[in-house]
Amino acid sequence: MGNTSTTFLSMPKKIIFASNNQHKADEIRRILSSDYEIVTLKQAGIDIDIPEPHDTFQKNADEKSSTIYNMLKTDCFAEDSGLEVISLNGLPGVYSARYAGEHGNDQANMEKLLNDLKDSLDRTAQFKTVVSLMLDGEVYNFVGTCSGSIATEPRGNNGFGYDPIFIPTGYNKTFAELNRDEKNAMSHRKKAITHMIDFLNTHQHT
Ligand code: IMP
Repeated sequence: MGNTSTTFLSMPKKIIFASNNQHKADEIRRILSSDYEIVTLKQAGIDIDIPEPHDTFQKNADEKSSTIYNMLKTDCFAEDSGLEVISLNGLPGVYSARYAGEHGNDQANMEKLLNDLKDSLDRTAQFKTVVSLMLDGEVYNFVGTCSGSIATEPRGNNGFGYDPIFIPTGYNKTFAELNRDEKNAMSHRKKAITHMIDFLNTHQHT
């Protein structure tokens, strides 16, 4: 990252990632430099399904990080993310994981979205991630977006979720046709996590 300033983090610093989503954890591990090591809830021995009852990514992300902070009294971060389609007024949005009804059924979610858009001329969309960091009992948010459009059919086998139908701006391939490093170089998650790391590297820890 080219940052030579002193961080409060010893090397590497472990930080809890308040999520059960292995795909997100794998992506974030590749995004983070070797200065940081994330510990998932499973690795921390915590078996909890944190609800996502709110109507914004930020509120859901804050719910996840504050739940784990209150349980463990240790610094942690969470993220909430999803796909926003302009012609659907931002849907699936916070409902991305359960758009077709069943939580985590990526195939059904993509089919529903493609069907919703079958008569639409405007297929513009963006992925959005909001990170919620709990540090010394204070909450900090970091946002990342990635603009693109929705393909007419799924293509590619990489990634997860809506990756096979999301074409990032400036590319002909879907996220699922790009390799992991290509996606990670431009993704919404990469941008939000980078903002958090920049903050951690300059924040005076008490
Ligand atoms: P949640 O943040 O756990 O509510 O779930 C986010 C949902 O949004 C995932 O289950 C995916 O359906 C979708 N999503 C979020 N980020 C991505 C991504 O990078 N690629 C594809 N789908 C994503």
